[in-house]
Amino acid sequence: MSADPKRGQFAKAKGEIILREHEFDGIQEFDQKLPNWWLFTFYAAIVFFVFYWSVYYGTTWIKSPQQVVQEKIIAVQAAQLKELNKLLADLDDTKLVYKLATDPLYVAAGQATFTKNCVPCHGVDLSATIDDGHGKRIPLPGLPLTDHIWKFTNKPMGLFNLINKGSPPESTGNNGAKMEAWGQKLSPMEIAQVLSYVISKVPEDFTEIPKPAAK
Ligand code: HEC
Repeated sequence: MSADPKRGQFAKAKGEIILREHEFDGIQEFDQKLPNWWLFTFYAAIVFFVFYWSVYYGTTWIKSPQQVVQEKIIAVQAAQLKELNKLLADLDDTKLVYKLATDPLYVAAGQATFTKNCVPCHGVDLSATIDDGHGKRIPLPGLPLTDHIWKFTNKPMGLFNLINKGSPPESTGNNGAKMEAWGQKLSPMEIAQVLSYVISKVPEDFTEIPKPAAK
């Protein structure tokens, strides 16, 4: 048991140090009254804890980190969808083939996106192969984009959709490899740019797309 608190005050006034009787290995503990500022902070922290705990778990005033993250995700998804719809409202096959894929700035931006994201599977030259250093071409997981064969669709907007949403659910993939939905990582604008770059490499595959009406 600790010493009588009054004794503590008294001893403090006298500048005395009180030790607890218990001793171990020649070590003894102080038994002083703690300073009031320290006690005040300590008790205030306990009161605050009870208050905060009840508010946190008992009310909906404070959002949990999960709720905050969830709300942010929903907001981001809504913003993405809005951006996508805005772009799609203004985009069609004709615009992709004759306007964007012939615009050097657009194509250059698309090439940068392609280099960063698509080269590992579709290759630098879009052939879906890589040189093994001895002149032999090794196949990469993706499909060649310059072989004039389009597995799912040869319509630009169809390709936009394919890149945005990834392999269709019914696809069994290329040797089992499917493509992810790039809309999760790239903005609709970046997808339009990267597709413009792909189209610009094989414009002959898109000649059946109607030309823009002369103004
Ligand atoms: C991890 C590997 C991988 C990456 C990275 C990748 N792809 Fe693919 N891509 C594939 C595979 C695999 C297929 C075939 C999917 C299937 O058959 O379901 C495919 C198919 C395609 C097709 C259809 C080709 C055809 O002949 O019909 C296009 C277009 C395409 N990818 C564009 C892109 C673009 C643009 C990017 C970069 C933003 C990209 N891919 C990044 C693996 C990849």
